[in-house]
Amino acid sequence: MTVAGAEDRVRIYEVGPRDGLQNEARPVATADKRRFVQLLLAAGLREIEATSFVSPRGVPQLADADELLAALPREPGVRYPVLVPNLRGLGRAEAAGARAIAVFTAATDAFAEHNIGMTVETSLRTFGPVLDRAAGLGWWRRGYVSTAFGCPYTGRVEPDRAVRVAATLLELGVDEVCFGDTIGVAVPARVRELLARVRDSGLPVERVALHFHDTRGMAVANVVAGLEAGVRCFDASTGGTGGCPYAPGAAGNLATEDLVYLLDGLGLAHGAMLPLVLEAARFISGVLGRPLASKVGQAGGWDPATGQPLGRA
Ligand code: HMG
Ligand code: MG
Repeated sequence: MTVAGAEDRVRIYEVGPRDGLQNEARPVATADKRRFVQLLLAAGLREIEATSFVSPRGVPQLADADELLAALPREPGVRYPVLVPNLRGLGRAEAAGARAIAVFTAATDAFAEHNIGMTVETSLRTFGPVLDRAAGLGWWRRGYVSTAFGCPYTGRVEPDRAVRVAATLLELGVDEVCFGDTIGVAVPARVRELLARVRDSGLPVERVALHFHDTRGMAVANVVAGLEAGVRCFDASTGGTGGCPYAPGAAGNLATEDLVYLLDGLGLAHGAMLPLVLEAARFISGVLGRPLASKVGQAGGWDPATGQPLGRA
């Protein structure tokens, strides 16, 4: 795929250990999370959102964040962003050895209030000191805008609202803003519409990432729309797991194996190896005790040289 002036290398931002697991009712052992991250590293993934430093009562599955982050292998060129909602979370992240954080708000007050107990405006005020402190520590910083296309409590979201929040996050110093289709309602036309607003507002598309939940099977199509508009960072979860405890109706994230198959087919470089991504996907599906939901997880890849499936168990 050629987009004038854009780099044809894509960043896959893996969210399996965080978004993928946060809504799982069955507790996943810290050792299994660590093994999952090791398999993701072996598959060539280099940005792995590892966990969240949030209220352990809010997200019990990630209550082991301190222990997990401290136990992850440190490798050059690997980034483990963690979700941080406030200065308390930042302190915990620092103690566990974090070097990258993501703050997270939304395009709608209704979702932000359910998710983080604050309006969007209050959340942005809360993030200011968090991002300043992280900048002082030399950390990489991302800001999420959830419900960028639709809100489980208030319905359709106009692109202007999401773009305004993104602009404020960039003013507050994030390196990257990520628009989240939290409940998986977007279609490519809506993605194009949002990214047109991004451009019209003068926001840098090279600092925009997209995070699609695949609730309605539109995630891969939405990635193509994002690529055509110049976006080069996409979130995905190996095994296609995911959901948000505060977003009724949210289903799994775009599966990393589906994204890798797409990018390979388009000839876009990304650094991940499909057979090894599938191995990590089978591992986490075994831990969770249910079959892979993703299409490529079920069918495997496809080797055009031999006509045979690739990376099946
Ligand atoms: P709160 O209740 O509004 O405020 O929580 P609080 O300050 O009164 O804190 C409540 C409790 O949390 C207290 O404990 C605090 O001590 C504790 P208690 O007295 O009840 O035992 N607390 C903390 N504990 C540990 N670490 C902390 C921390 N802060 C407070 N950092 C808060 C506010 C944000 C903490 C809470 O609402 C929370 O943790 N929410 C969880 C939000 C979350 O993780 N959601 C899922 C991730 S977002 C997502 O999935 C969307 C995304 O994937 C993109 C997309 O799909 O669109 C990113
Ligand atoms: Mg999400």
